[in-house]
Amino acid sequence: MKKEIDGEELNIPEHVAIIMDGNGRWAKKRLMPRNFGHKAGANTVEQICEDAYNLGIKYLTVYAFSTENWKRSVEEVTGIMNLLRKYLSNAYERASANNMRVRVIGDRSALDADIVELIDKLEKDTEVFDGLHFTIALNYGGRDEIKRAVQDIAERVKSGELEPADIDEKLISATLDTKELPDPDLMIRTSGEYRISNYLIWQLAYTEYYFTDVLWPDFDIEELKRAIRYYNGRDRRYGGVK
Ligand code: IPE
Ligand code: IPE
Ligand code: MG
Repeated sequence: MKKEIDGEELNIPEHVAIIMDGNGRWAKKRLMPRNFGHKAGANTVEQICEDAYNLGIKYLTVYAFSTENWKRSVEEVTGIMNLLRKYLSNAYERASANNMRVRVIGDRSALDADIVELIDKLEKDTEVFDGLHFTIALNYGGRDEIKRAVQDIAERVKSGELEPADIDEKLISATLDTKELPDPDLMIRTSGEYRISNYLIWQLAYTEYYFTDVLWPDFDIEELKRAIRYYNGRDRRYGGVK
């Protein structure tokens, strides 16, 4: 989709994936506890959802908690889970105002039962909305997602429903948590780290990457537009010649 932004006609990426990093450093700079940064980061996500929708982005997928983030202190993990409870409990109103469908990807089996209930309810209640498809990666790891998909496919082969030769890239994509989403066009990582940290490792195969030093709580619509302008300067060849 094309859209005029600040006087410039830009190609808007359909699916933007974000690694929201730098909350801890943002808090540290203010001599505050890490959870203060997570709270600020949660406010940023809400704002960016609205901005993304207004810019014409169709799918927004954010990394909220990785399968590796359990290594952090109990205090920090509890703080993040409580922010999440708050977000999930209040999200419906914003979702209906912004025509936003919410999904959660990742392994739910390790989450507290009340959080899983909140997720199920929010997903169900927002199913009818189709303005912005907002996906939260929670207890998500790309390797874990692939592992779960392989187990699922292996069960289907074992039961005779599938032959090994039936396994192709399409089937694998359709077995991942992201089965309802197109692959991301643009991946943004904040906080100056140049790595993927186990995010969407299958889906990002041909995605354009944008890295910025800005810490996640400071990320705003101007930063998002900068990333979109960068995306417009890229030549996506998908292995071919142009
Ligand atoms: C990202 O910010 C949020 C989560 C991983 C939950 P960090 O908490 O990783 O912030 P830094 O990288 O320590 O600054
Ligand atoms: C990636 O950030 C995970 C999330 C943003 C949720 P991390 O801060 O956990 O990644 P590393 O440890 O720097 O690779
Ligand atoms: Mg980090």
